[in-house]
Amino acid sequence: MKIFLNKRIPEIGIELLNHPNIELIFPDKEELTHEEWLGYCKQSDALLSVGKSKFNEEFFEECPNIKAIALFSVGYDHVDIDAATKHGVAITNTPDVLSNATSDTSFLLMQMVARYAFFNLNKVRNGEWSSNFNPIANLGQELKGKTLGILGLGRIGYEMAKKCIGAFDMPIIYHNRNRHPEIEKELNAKYVSFDELLEQSDVITIHANYTAKDQHKFNKEAFNKMKSSAILVNTARGGFVNEEDLYSALKNGDIFGAGLDVTEKEPLAKNSKLNTLDNICIFPHIGSATVEARSGMARVAAENIVAFVEGKKLPTIVNLSVFDN
Ligand code: DGY
Repeated sequence: MKIFLNKRIPEIGIELLNHPNIELIFPDKEELTHEEWLGYCKQSDALLSVGKSKFNEEFFEECPNIKAIALFSVGYDHVDIDAATKHGVAITNTPDVLSNATSDTSFLLMQMVARYAFFNLNKVRNGEWSSNFNPIANLGQELKGKTLGILGLGRIGYEMAKKCIGAFDMPIIYHNRNRHPEIEKELNAKYVSFDELLEQSDVITIHANYTAKDQHKFNKEAFNKMKSSAILVNTARGGFVNEEDLYSALKNGDIFGAGLDVTEKEPLAKNSKLNTLDNICIFPHIGSATVEARSGMARVAAENIVAFVEGKKLPTIVNLSVFDN
């Protein structure tokens, strides 16, 4: 079968794809135009897809040969799952293997913001480290005992909760589509409404799956409900946050700070107003960027392709109902 791999992935994935029934299509240049990419897709039976190319109704109509797409990501907001299912295309993702790395990133951003670490680092680099010790300058806040509010208590949210409990004894509240009684018991976590999450949290960390309904969930109205000492951390998807409203909330001191690993448009424009603020720390979508997580993602994505080729159950299928047709 012809499998199109659009980007280099860690070696473990390539080794697994070295299979007698796989003809690997791997273009000899890094960046493809949309037309070039589509041309490769049209020739293929399945894709191991790295990146955010959109898979919608139009795509599935244009590429009727494709029967499986193994995403090199846990998020699948760039895939129209209903259209994939309708066209008989199995979609798989890479859960679990990146939960540790991504929650580490959230934990890091939380601290970067709490102690204005990014701002202070820049001061040193810009030669602005004043020789006078000033007892009331550069004051951050401590996280010990502060309430962590989790939007989306899935695998990554769970890992973040455990880190925050272990390091800072932070009580956990959460809002989710479904309640998790077992986890509530284990973490002593309390389920709250979205408004209560906004009102009661000292740190809000976003880990939910993103859907169109969630667009700009964090807007002016939401920021007004948050504590002025609150920190917002987002390693999920940029669409959750209205960046214009976030800018105003940070500028006006409606919230204390924000740590983002994701933005509405990626990469974030250099001249974005967000880059002018001292109380924000932005990373270039590095949530899963560790050797361990990326190797795990390569392994899981390749295992899904191998299972597809061998006609076996796909280990991490997202749209199981594709097999009902
Ligand atoms: C994921 O796996 O969803 C990461 O955000 C990378 O896109």
